[in-house]
Amino acid sequence: MYNDNPTIAGLDNKVVDESKQGQVFGAEFAVKKPGDKHFYIESYGCQMNFSDSEIVASILGEAGYGPTRDMEAADLILINTCSIREKAEDTVRKRLRVFDKVKQRKPGTMVGVLGCMAERLKAKFLDEEKLVDIVVGPDAYRDLPGLVAGAEEGEKGVNVFLSREETYADISPVRLQSNGVTAFISIMRGCDNMCSFCVVPYTRGRERSRSAFSIVAEATDLFDKGFREVTLLGQNVDSYKWTNPETEDTVNFAELLAMTAAVDPDLRIRFSTSHPKDITDDVLYAMRDHENVCKYIHLPVQSGNSRILDLMNRTYDREWYKAKIDRIYEIMPDCAISSDIITGFCTETEEEHQDTVSMVDYAQYSMSYMFFYSERPGTPAARKLEDDVPLEVKKRRLTEIIELQTSIARKLNAEQVGKTFKVLIEGDSKKSDQEWKGRTTQNRMVIFPKLEGQKPGDYVTVNIHDSTSATLFGTQVEPQK
Ligand code: 5AD
Ligand code: SF4
Repeated sequence: MYNDNPTIAGLDNKVVDESKQGQVFGAEFAVKKPGDKHFYIESYGCQMNFSDSEIVASILGEAGYGPTRDMEAADLILINTCSIREKAEDTVRKRLRVFDKVKQRKPGTMVGVLGCMAERLKAKFLDEEKLVDIVVGPDAYRDLPGLVAGAEEGEKGVNVFLSREETYADISPVRLQSNGVTAFISIMRGCDNMCSFCVVPYTRGRERSRSAFSIVAEATDLFDKGFREVTLLGQNVDSYKWTNPETEDTVNFAELLAMTAAVDPDLRIRFSTSHPKDITDDVLYAMRDHENVCKYIHLPVQSGNSRILDLMNRTYDREWYKAKIDRIYEIMPDCAISSDIITGFCTETEEEHQDTVSMVDYAQYSMSYMFFYSERPGTPAARKLEDDVPLEVKKRRLTEIIELQTSIARKLNAEQVGKTFKVLIEGDSKKSDQEWKGRTTQNRMVIFPKLEGQKPGDYVTVNIHDSTSATLFGTQVEPQK
């Protein structure tokens, strides 16, 4: 999801799925009735941002704005932005040039910048980008209708207030890029971790957890509508903690997993992102004990070297991380683990980089999102450390990590050949409408021929006969008793 890194796309576009960035949304929203007001939205960055766009769609819907896929037909063009790396911000600037052309052709079209870059640049955006009418941070989306109304009267507006309470718990997201089977549920907002490289604490504010009841209600509603998989989203889901204001009882993440798993045995539960310092044995037991909680953990390591981890303020070291990996495989031998990795962080030596290489080998990740370090203004690293690893070195180290990760993924996938998996059908495969694509509990993508009478959302049993580093290929068999 964090796929704005050109070196990755260039090296192996199978490692990360580029297709989602900038995604607009499904054809069912394309209809525009005369006289209606419409907004167009593009989303960049993490899953949380895509989830936020669905909240924005709901808020604008209440205000009488329907979504359209056609930028030129929109009264309001929105871009939900990401600041995580410089490249992500460059992409947004480029899109603004395109919106500018539309605005010149159709004066009166309003342009709004949402999300992390809006939060980071605030009113400066209005000075730097004359076409922008409104700038709205991640905690201020309820104010959108008011800001849009103001902009219609010619008054540019900014709201980048960061809240300690806002979780949008009562808002029913409009499922914009839905396949009707899988959906995101945002369970918390913000981040208190303060990793030294990361802009998120500044763009998304303090950590707060959403009501467990509203999360379970959303999962239940999705199940009733035919969805069969939900991904619980947060910057650090393991520190989820919600106190029931009536009883003072608290719900932690392990308990929340059990509560959502109880919605229906046919509803798969996934979650992202976990932090190595916070994931508990109780979370691992909840995963093990509920068949419908998927056996897959995204557990970013960032670096395999203890000195670098300390500079990154990750609050764990190499040994702690290895012990976590051991514990996961001990409790769930069939669990898949994925990671985020940064190469060339400030002062990283060749030897320290080799520690990351050996960690990738130790953890046997099924997949990783891999980046070279990009200094972000205002972060602790930018203030206190020197970005002293030359770009070519950062990129060479990244290539090394990507090559190793790809070979591990290829090997792990080859080991699945001959095995049989329960697969949730998500839709047609990219290449053929005669084939389904779906995922195993370990989040591995499987392609297999369709059988009569099946539809997305069905669970089927697939025997694997072939594999690449990114995909498994199989045929359907009778479920094993
Ligand atoms: N430079 C490069 N990668 C970064 N990430 C976060 N901040 C930076 C940065 N400044 C990566 C981390 C994080 C993922 C979302 O993006 O690996 O886990
Ligand atoms: Fe990008 Fe991070 Fe903001 Fe997500 S939270 S949009 S990854 S900066």
